[in-house]
This record gives sequence, C-alpha cells and structure tokens, in this order.
Amino acid sequence: MKNILVTGGAGFIGSHTVRLLVNNYPSYRIVNLDLLTYAGNLYNLSDIEKKSNYTFIKGDINDYQLLVTIFDKYDINSVIHLAAESHVDRSIKDPLIFAKTNILGTLNLLQVAKESWNNDFEDKLFYHISTDEVYGALSDTGFFEETTPYNPKSPYAASKASSDHFVRAFGNTYKLPIIISNCSNNYGSYQFPEKLIPLCIHNICQQREIPVYGKGENIRDWLYVEDHAKAIDIIFHEGKVGETYNIGGWNEWKNIDVIKLLIDKVDTYLGRKKGTSEKLIRFVKDRAGHDYRYAIDATKLNKEIGWKPSLQFEEGIEKTIKWYLNNQDWVTKVTSGDYQKYYEEMYKL
Ligand code: NAD
Ligand code: TYD
Repeated sequence: MKNILVTGGAGFIGSHTVRLLVNNYPSYRIVNLDLLTYAGNLYNLSDIEKKSNYTFIKGDINDYQLLVTIFDKYDINSVIHLAAESHVDRSIKDPLIFAKTNILGTLNLLQVAKESWNNDFEDKLFYHISTDEVYGALSDTGFFEETTPYNPKSPYAASKASSDHFVRAFGNTYKLPIIISNCSNNYGSYQFPEKLIPLCIHNICQQREIPVYGKGENIRDWLYVEDHAKAIDIIFHEGKVGETYNIGGWNEWKNIDVIKLLIDKVDTYLGRKKGTSEKLIRFVKDRAGHDYRYAIDATKLNKEIGWKPSLQFEEGIEKTIKWYLNNQDWVTKVTSGDYQKYYEEMYKL
C-alpha cells in the first residue's frame, strides 16, 4: 500500500502529477499538502477532488507539527516534493521567501520524513522534484548532464540547488532513500499566467503587449507538462534510490521564436489575419542575470527507464492554446484571488 504525500499538488506540475496518480493508482492514497499561495489553487483539481483515494490538506511545508501529524495519520511511506516558489522574476524581487520555502521547507520535510520513518527505510522514498536551472547557463553548445557541476545563477536556482544538496546530504548521512529529478521548462494547461507561454497566449488573445526580455534570443528546452508528470510516475516507481535523473524535451527554442509561433497559432485559432498580433511584441529591459541557454540531456532516463517525451512541441502548443482559450474564466479566477473563496466554500472554513 502506498500512502504518498505530494507537496505543492495544487500548483501547475503538482496538479498534473496528482491527477495522474489519483486516476492511475486507485489503491494508493494520495495526500496533497499545499499552502495555496498565489500559484496554487483547487480549480486545478476539481475533476478529481471527490475521489476516495485523494485527500487535500491546506498547509505549509514549514509547519513541523502539521507534517508530523500528516505522516502519522496517513501512515505516509513516500513523498513526492514539488512545493516551491517557482518564478525567477519573483525571486529577483524577493529572494527571502525562496529561501524560506525552497530551502527551509525542504529541510523541514526531510527532517520529519527521517524522524517519522525512524530508521525503518524499507519501502520508503523521498522523491524531490527540481529544475535544470541548478546547473547554471549554457553557451550555444553542450547539454546539462546529471554529472554537470551545480552553478546556479538566480536566487530561484540557488534556492533549488540548496534544497537538492540537503536532499542528497540526508541520503548520504542518514541513508534516507532519496531520488532527485531535474527538469527543463514545462508548458501546458493550468500554468499560472506569469510564465512565458501562458502570459503570451493571454496577451495575444487580449491584444495586450508581449514583453520580450532583451533581444528574445535566450534559449529554453520546453517539455509538455503531462510528459513531466509521466516521467515523475515512472521515476517514482522504477528509479534507483540515490540517483538523479534529468528530464527534458530535446526541444530548444529561442524565446522570440516561441512568441512568433504562439502569435501565429493564436491568431489562426481566433480567425484573425496572419501576423495580426506581431505588433504586440515589445522588447523590454533584460532580466537581471538572465541565463542564456538551458538544454537537458535526458539520455540516462531514456536508456535506464525507457522514458521519452510523447508529444511534439507544435502539438503540445496547440493543445495548450486551445485549453487557455477555452478556459479564460480559469485565468480570471486564478489571477483575481477568487479561488480563495472557492477553497473556503469547498472545505467549509
Ligand atoms: P507552481 O508555482 O505552479 O506551484 C507551486 C505550488 O507549491 C503551489 O501550489 C503553491 O501553493 C505551493 N506552495 C508554495 N509554497 C508552499 C509552502 N510553503 N507549503 C506548501 N505548499 C506551498 O510551481 P510548478 O511550476 O508547478 O513547479 C513545481 C516544482 O517543479 C517546483 O519545485 C519547481 O522548482 C519544479 N520545476 C518547475 C519547472 C517549470 O517549468 N515550471 C521545471 C522544472 C522543475
Ligand atoms: P519563464 O517562463 O519565466 O521561465 P524561466 O525563467 O524559468 O526559464 O521564462 C522563460 C523565458 O522567457 C526566459 O528566458 C525569460 C523570458 N521571458 C520573457 O522574455 N518575457 C516574459 O514576460 C517572461 C515571463 C519571460
């Protein structure tokens, strides 16, 4: 029997992961702990919230006593840890909350797992979800491999790198069974519209300006979020304890090319004349310390466990655009704070 504590399950990647686990493993108990910050909301999971193998708890990964109670009450034997502050621009404005959530929160969770499991680590797993940004930035050549030295450049990346180090330290020092995966940029449904792809879709749709940092020449490796959730599922079940797995899309794009693709597809979808929204492009001041290029080599995961992305970028982008255009009320609700009301009604606070 697996009783899995998923943290950050109301966020973008977390909600896709929770949905997949709840639907695919009816005999597991999935306990979703999420603080419901601006980035997490329960609309993301309304399709599965009534399932009998699913429990939601609103709370903070920094709350030691709450974690002890959850481990005890639900007999938690696995953790999939996604809760985090996740936006680089916010980390540049306010790095402290990134240290509190991403570093101290992870440490608190590790500590409670270690104590609750009380050195009986058989069939236990602490699976930590991380990012490729811990490796720093690449020039035009090369890829991040699992052995690439850490060289985080933004406060977000530094906080995730630090959390990875603590996870490994608990594996080494206390023999806590850990796995870490480091993934490239995700896109897809339910992503908060502060990140590049949903922000662009929203702005093109509303005919608002699209802020392009610098010259738009920075490169990201994009992966469809459901492919990331599938990778998490497969690593959780088949990954080797103590190992790190890189997850990526083999799908590098310059930002400006992603933006032009989105303009083309959204305009076509809305029946507008080709190129209508190109006028919305605004080159703005570059992000401070903007990482030039990320690119993941996911060969290890492919060779050892057989995972590879299932969706081509254009297909994933089309699905994503359709989802955002058909769910504009979701964008309004999550950006208006209306979801807090939903939470209170749902859970009768
Ligand atoms: P997100 O910002 O959409 O969601 C984060 C979730 O964590 C939210 O639901 C939020 O409410 C919750 N949370 C924040 N602070 C919390 C706290 N103190 N206690 C409990 N819950 C808290 O993030 P995401 O994009 O879904 O990313 C999920 C994880 O995957 C993060 O660890 C991130 O570093 C990692 N990651 C993200 C990407 C990406 O492209 N988005 C790529 C690689 C790795
Ligand atoms: P983002 O989605 O914030 O992810 P990350 O910084 O973690 O890679 O940004 C993706 C890329 O798009 C990054 O190079 C910054 C750039 N960007 C813009 O040019 N304009 C924007 O409004 C945003 C949000 C990002």
